[in-house]
Amino acid sequence: MISADCVVAGCRQLLTCRGPVPKRKEALRDLGVIENGWVASDAGTIVFVGTESEFRAQVRVAAGAEWIDGGGLVACPGFIDSHTHLPFAGNREREFGLRIQGWTYQQLAAAGMGIQTTVKATRAASADELRALCLRRLDDMLLTGTTTVEAKSGYGLNLEAEIKQLEVLRELGPRHPVDIVPTFMGAHEVPPEFRDRRDAYIHLLIQSIIPEVRRRNLAEFFDVFCEPGVFSLDETAALVRTAKEAGFKIKIHADEFVTLGGAELAAGLGAVSAEHLISISEAGIQKLAASGTAAILLPGVSFFLMMEKKAPARRLVEAGAAVALASDFNPGSSHLSSMLFVLQLGVFTLGLGVEEAVNACTANAAYAIDRHREVGTLEPGKKMDLLLLDIGDYVSLAYRLGPNPIRLVLKGGKVVVKDGRRVEAAR
Ligand code: NIG
Ligand code: FE
Repeated sequence: MISADCVVAGCRQLLTCRGPVPKRKEALRDLGVIENGWVASDAGTIVFVGTESEFRAQVRVAAGAEWIDGGGLVACPGFIDSHTHLPFAGNREREFGLRIQGWTYQQLAAAGMGIQTTVKATRAASADELRALCLRRLDDMLLTGTTTVEAKSGYGLNLEAEIKQLEVLRELGPRHPVDIVPTFMGAHEVPPEFRDRRDAYIHLLIQSIIPEVRRRNLAEFFDVFCEPGVFSLDETAALVRTAKEAGFKIKIHADEFVTLGGAELAAGLGAVSAEHLISISEAGIQKLAASGTAAILLPGVSFFLMMEKKAPARRLVEAGAAVALASDFNPGSSHLSSMLFVLQLGVFTLGLGVEEAVNACTANAAYAIDRHREVGTLEPGKKMDLLLLDIGDYVSLAYRLGPNPIRLVLKGGKVVVKDGRRVEAAR
């Protein structure tokens, strides 16, 4: 018999998202649904997934086990937000006001606002302030279903402030149940003090900041904003080569506003993911689809910046790319942190099916941050990170807009959200 210390019994629909990852083409439509499904874990790891009769035959429930009645509810893996700019200070409310009056995101940046506004605020914030901001944001994320989040630095843009952001991320680990995957993004923008000597900033990144962040082991990934006016293809390639040699895994902000070929570069350099892709070319789509590089789409950006143009999600799926969805949570281009809303935007604005959107927020999102061996599906051996939803059918994840259907969240087999509210997990 298998021993279990946490059981979720009799879910109306259990969305396992099981099977080989990443999911491409037709496989992206398969949620591996078990009607009246049971799932059990022991010490935080899933040990059983199946039907009631299989459960009764195979599982012995430990004394004092957590027993959760899933009757009438839908269960799915915790959402994975594979692209956020979590540790920032300040806000851009005033600039948002200007955008509503017609300024574009790029015009704000050219006028010295945009990312630079947030760099000023983040440099000025203490680590304590930054940590408190992150903790509140992580609570918001958890309540809307996120159980693992990738988080980028990149609002410090000097050694001290980048390290402050990354150390805050590290300190969040023991303080909050959401797992954090840290990314160093010192190449998010050229800082104002280097405006007229951008080569000197790139040199500084290559010669000292990248090696120092690595030496302190503060980040797993390295990311660059590859975009005209920010970092060119050649600059991106040079930065990525240095970061790879130092031991970072690679992500690239590619083809966000202008078709530059960032997607092709990401695939060619063996990046784990190419992100944004609103302006990806047909060649880029083919190159990504033929590669192991995940395509992370961020529908919040087109929505938040009120752009007609959207990432070509259907063409990417049909070509066979490993498509994931994420929030891009940041104060300028996508001030939204709910993966539930991202899933809905994936359906309403990118033309994904509900099944595709769910897999893109779970299994493929885990792949996009190289965590697919641990999370993203409900299968034996994976972490018991699970959402219980008060909906009659999983289609209502996208169909029922507004109310939050997430009643309960399990993180590593511990209840961290109950009746839609945050609770401290019992130790
Ligand atoms: O992913 N593209 C670059 N960076 C962010 C925006 C950051 C900001 O506006 O503060 C993004 O869209
Ligand atoms: Fe981003």
